[in-house]
Amino acid sequence: MNPDTEVLLTTGAIEISGRLVEASNATLFGTVSLDGVSAECVYKPIRGERPLWDFPDGTLAGREVATYLLSEASGWSLVPPTVFRDGPFGPGMCQLWIDSEDISSLLDIMRAGSVPAGWLQVFEGYGADGEEVVVAHADDERLRRLAVLDVVSNNADRKGGHLLLSGDRLYGVDHGICWHGDNKLRTILWGWAGDRLPDDAREVVEKLHSDLDGDLGEQLCDYITLDEVIAARRRADRLLRTGRFPSPRPDGRAIPWPPF
Ligand SMILES: Nc1ncnc2c1ncn2[C@@H]1O[C@H](COP(=O)(O)OP(=O)(O)O)[C@@H](O)[C@H]1O
Ligand SMILES: [Mg+2]
Repeated sequence: MNPDTEVLLTTGAIEISGRLVEASNATLFGTVSLDGVSAECVYKPIRGERPLWDFPDGTLAGREVATYLLSEASGWSLVPPTVFRDGPFGPGMCQLWIDSEDISSLLDIMRAGSVPAGWLQVFEGYGADGEEVVVAHADDERLRRLAVLDVVSNNADRKGGHLLLSGDRLYGVDHGICWHGDNKLRTILWGWAGDRLPDDAREVVEKLHSDLDGDLGEQLCDYITLDEVIAARRRADRLLRTGRFPSPRPDGRAIPWPPF
């Protein structure tokens, strides 16, 4: 956690300079400035949110902040600093912008049979010319940790475009549809499905399981419902009891489309 960045994001003046066009809700890009220091940021006002029938409670912005708090509690810092604040279009979330590189060193679509050694195949399909293709990702510790957090937060939208690579840091973004009480995990990070949870992950899930019943749980209640906090704790508990990564549900909806 970087408290200075959180202060800047929370109390700095937001100046909007554009809108992210591929975004489905009002996702604005701009700078946030305080005392001569400024940073690029994403600002998503609640007013710009499209209502979602299956997420009747809370807001996309609140769920994004909750996911940041979970990531910070894990000690893995896999979500860019994200705060809830008022802004030029009313209350919403403000997140540090991360300049990112091509993600293809970690996740890619390729011809069947050409998955590099050490990579994990997620699913197969057919390309535009009918050729067999597969989507695969690296057996990378950062991706693996993000996959664990996605299980706890029940992320319904972990696609390639929501992964940002910056130097040796990996970040996940767009956490507006996490935290549902029912299993909605939809991700391209299924490479470890059914595998044993490694020790570092187990320790972190143990900590989150306990934090969700304490300070973290209380903090989250500002952004998601108590039932959603309890459901997250249940998912952490299940991870600990099975000791394994979950597997995709058989309804065919466990992979986001498009995957990138
Ligand atoms: N904090 C960020 N830093 C850098 N790029 C970002 C950040 N947040 C989002 N993006 C980029 O902008 C795109 C759209 O933002 P996203 O959060 O997915 O909006 P939406 O909720 O409307 O889908 C993302 O896919 C990602 O490429
Ligand atoms: Mg998105």
